[in-house]
Amino acid sequence: MARIAVVAGDGIGPEVVAQARKVLDAVLPGVQATEYDLGAARWHRTGEVLPDSVLAELAGHDAILLGAVGDPTVPPGVLERGLLLKLRFAFDQYVNLRPSRLWPGVTGPLGNVKPGEVDLVVVREGTEGLYAGAGGSLHRDTPAEVATEESLNTRHGVERVIRDAFARAGRRERRKVTLVHKTNVLTHAGSLWSRTFDEVAAEHPDVATEYQHVDAAAMFLVTQPQRYDVVVTDNLFGDILTDIAAAVTGGIGLAASGCINPEGAYPSMFEPVHGSAPDIAGQGVADPVAAVLSAALLLEQLGHTEAAARVNAAVAAELAGRTAGTVLRTAEVGDRLAAHAVA
Ligand code: NAD
Ligand code: IPM
Ligand code: MN
Repeated sequence: MARIAVVAGDGIGPEVVAQARKVLDAVLPGVQATEYDLGAARWHRTGEVLPDSVLAELAGHDAILLGAVGDPTVPPGVLERGLLLKLRFAFDQYVNLRPSRLWPGVTGPLGNVKPGEVDLVVVREGTEGLYAGAGGSLHRDTPAEVATEESLNTRHGVERVIRDAFARAGRRERRKVTLVHKTNVLTHAGSLWSRTFDEVAAEHPDVATEYQHVDAAAMFLVTQPQRYDVVVTDNLFGDILTDIAAAVTGGIGLAASGCINPEGAYPSMFEPVHGSAPDIAGQGVADPVAAVLSAALLLEQLGHTEAAARVNAAVAAELAGRTAGTVLRTAEVGDRLAAHAVA
């Protein structure tokens, strides 16, 4: 039976993860889930963020389910870099998979797309780029202060994520990959990305390709989201574009993601695209659908295809039944989804 590590984390993380666990228990009775106490509370209590011993324990699981990380009482970056990015990097989760679809019953904010018309997946590079931590500062707290933050792009890192995007596109109906970058300005990294993209594309004559600058892609994601199938892009562009994609497909409360190590050398991690939402934490009003759909991605990754399909069907029914303006209670949505998924 699958062994899953659960890192509920901060803010609404524990609230939404509790619902994902209800649903997992419903579709996969006997699943072994172990909770790990990581995040703001542990940092305040002990000063620890992610001890090596815990990292080693997490490595022994089949997958990780994560809620959200980050808290206003903790300096920026301590948890985001020290916990979340440390996990993504340590477990070489270089495919940050972020699907976006317009579910039946959900309308986009502009009313320019119909359910079913949007079904895209962003393959965001997960271990490099501006997230690599290459940089530093000089003359801190003086008028001469200098800060640098460099984008790290390796041939190995770029090629493997582009290969994953093409392989995914080859298994989808529309078979199209859009490379998003900013090759007109970021010429060093841009050249590496586009040459590698062209090389891999040449091996996949059955997959259509296009290139867009990230600013144009941000616009088209809003005005014509239906034009995308698979989008491959770097770490920061992918971060920003997937919040936009979430907004045009029903909101951040529905957006799921997988931080995947495709080789299976390390556990993959599944988490909502959203954060800890301190503005609504503790109120029981967070939408748990993103966490539940992340659990469905986890099930798919572990080969429990039928269980994943049942979760997706439960979400489809839940969203089709929603009426605008109704107050949502996190636990009630979780109960409904679990009941639906088991039936
Ligand atoms: P956020 O995603 O937490 O919140 C943005 C807005 O979306 C807020 O108004 C929030 O209430 C709303 N929202 C988010 N999830 C929702 C849900 N499930 N249901 C209903 N509304 C929801 O982003 P932020 O405010 O920029 O960041 C807050 C903290 O979370 C920061 O510390 C940030 O670093 C962290 N963060 C963590 C992750 C993660 O763990 N993967 C992702 C993004 C941000
Ligand atoms: C996300 C978040 C993270 C990211 C932060 C919290 C490190 O915004 O998962 O989208 O930028 O990847
Ligand atoms: Mn983000």
